[in-house]
Amino acid sequence: MTAARPLEPARALKEYAPSTLEVLTSIRREGFLGWQMKVWREQGDLVRVRMGAREFVLVTHPEHVRHINVTQREHYDKAESYDVLRELLLGNGIVTAVGDDWRRQRKLMAPFFTPRGVEKFFPIFVSDTQELMERWRAQQGARRPVEMLDEMMKVTAAVILHSVFSTDSGETLLRIKHSIERMITHITDIQMSPVRIPQWVPTPGNLRFRRAHTLVTGYIQELIARRRTLPAEQWPDDLLTKLMTTRDEETGTLMVEQLLVDNGITMFAAGHETTARTLAFLWYALSQNPEVERRLHAELDAVLGDAPPTISDLKKLPYTLQVVKEVLRLYPAAPMYARDAIADDTLDGVHIPQGTRTIIFTYATHRHPDFWEAPERFDPDRWLPEREAARHAQAYHPFAAGPRICLGNNFSLLETHVMTAMLARRFKMRLKPGHVPQFDLFGTLGSRNGLPMLIEAR
Ligand code: HEM
Repeated sequence: MTAARPLEPARALKEYAPSTLEVLTSIRREGFLGWQMKVWREQGDLVRVRMGAREFVLVTHPEHVRHINVTQREHYDKAESYDVLRELLLGNGIVTAVGDDWRRQRKLMAPFFTPRGVEKFFPIFVSDTQELMERWRAQQGARRPVEMLDEMMKVTAAVILHSVFSTDSGETLLRIKHSIERMITHITDIQMSPVRIPQWVPTPGNLRFRRAHTLVTGYIQELIARRRTLPAEQWPDDLLTKLMTTRDEETGTLMVEQLLVDNGITMFAAGHETTARTLAFLWYALSQNPEVERRLHAELDAVLGDAPPTISDLKKLPYTLQVVKEVLRLYPAAPMYARDAIADDTLDGVHIPQGTRTIIFTYATHRHPDFWEAPERFDPDRWLPEREAARHAQAYHPFAAGPRICLGNNFSLLETHVMTAMLARRFKMRLKPGHVPQFDLFGTLGSRNGLPMLIEAR
């Protein structure tokens, strides 16, 4: 069934107030993601969860996703739910800004990220993938599993540094990447913990965070300072230059230093991890679905020769893109995101008072049986154009929806499409025998016991 199921308002909201012990036991057993899935399966599509002082509304149904992100979006924003992220990592950069601050930044950056705009980055995607392939070829014969999440992070981090900052920092790249991951883990811990220890308390976690923060901020500041020392005609045509040189249409002023740093960190953090996870899950999914893998290989072998693919080659690789889309359905790197009600609202007949935190549960929407037949099956044919067109638009929202949809969605789809094509043409990834990944939420979707995989040449 593909049409939206109308909900009867009286049935739309379930109240759920589990004891702390119940929640902790469930999280220990099934992980945080497993617990949220259990709440959805047992309670339904719209659930108000109360746990002590904490309260949120879990939103899964595509109609509700549309309501919050699109039709009634002026009632929702990134308010309190984003305070920790704003305060500790992203400041007032584009992911966490609100109101006019956000609108101005989005308008400034949007041209870089249109479907045409991102084609400019294509050569970077190709050359960074070639570098990875050379490294993998050199390692052939080692026959030891690699941690696929790390492998993919290294290549997507290099891509974002090249694309946004026109720089390649080698060893520093690994330290920056590691520090950002450390900060995100710290923030996720704070968001999930019942009590918050102030940042000034010198706990090992806070100290680690401070060190990571100093390193990353210093690095971005240095990139900006280095560019200022160059004559204007030598500034590369990249996002950083755009941010540093474009005057605000209304105020006529340039972006202040702090906002440049905030956006530098934002772009690095938002622009590599989710894509890396998507690619790692893709290799996992292929390793578990040999028939899909066979069809993918057949398409690649028929279209690609020995030379790296061009943009026009990609148009001849529709099945490859279907595989990518299906990975983003079953393994959405951002499995949930928050929106805060900034005004009273009525959602499907249910009163949502101002100040309510809603958690939009992408991972569950993507498995909703009213919209997906055999939801757990990995089936790229769901993305045949006619089937895609017949589906509720918000049954699939790996990049969120509405005006605050991921700015980098075209960028990451092109990046993932070409990397999948290049890597799967030459390599086959196999899950380490006996390994069963335990998917869970770590800010983004991850695996508690990693994703060790063997790389075989084809
Ligand atoms: C598969 C890869 C990706 C996924 C699944 C993904 C997912 C998302 C999601 C769900 C959001 C909304 C977050 C929220 O509302 O809290 C978002 C926002 C955003 N993403 Fe991505 N993203 C990906 C790749 C990228 C890349 C490559 C970039 C940059 C090059 C990027 C830049 C951004 C930005 C700037 C925003 C904030 C947009 C705004 O608020 O106006 N993302 N992304």
